[in-house]
Amino acid sequence: MKKKLILPEVIFEFQLDENICTTLLEDVSKLEWTPNQHNFYSKNSLNKDPTYDFLHEWFHECLQAVKNDLQMQCEELNVVLSWATKTENGQFHNSHTHRNSVVSGILYLQDNMSHTWFSRAHMWGKGHNLSLFPNDETEMQHEEETSKGKLLIFPSMLPHRVSCNSDDDARYTIAFNAFPSGQLGDYSCLNSLHLKKMT
Ligand SMILES: [Fe+2]
Repeated sequence: MKKKLILPEVIFEFQLDENICTTLLEDVSKLEWTPNQHNFYSKNSLNKDPTYDFLHEWFHECLQAVKNDLQMQCEELNVVLSWATKTENGQFHNSHTHRNSVVSGILYLQDNMSHTWFSRAHMWGKGHNLSLFPNDETEMQHEEETSKGKLLIFPSMLPHRVSCNSDDDARYTIAFNAFPSGQLGDYSCLNSLHLKKMT
């Protein structure tokens, strides 16, 4: 028997300069925090804070590179919301998707043993409710290491979670949501749409 992996999915990775990342970590660790279900998020959004303008300019460059690679039919991808997360020792973040968003990103501010797990239902378990698999495991999982300066850009509807932080240090990230703007689609396919830049 030969097992064949078909139709793989893609996400994108970029790398931020280590020194910039160190400065960002210092800034972010001083933010005010709001409790989430199992970790914390920054009390205020970061995309409205001029301190982080330079970072959002870089996010914007990365998003355009993704847009161009995927040949998305829109003029721009713009960050519409960004925030920091803090996951202390013993905390985690359960599986979720990002609503009101098309493309999302995670920037890791330091190395940490707590990793991001992306998941997707596999086709063998889809479209029926039969208990054909042990523990009803019908998801493929991908583990992504938390490493300093790594930025991941992925579809907002891709479920992901954060495993329990067993490190003494809190795990800090900056996350964002992005939306397409400008001319979308194609009039010749009767699907064109003009969206103003979202903020
Ligand atoms: Fe998330």
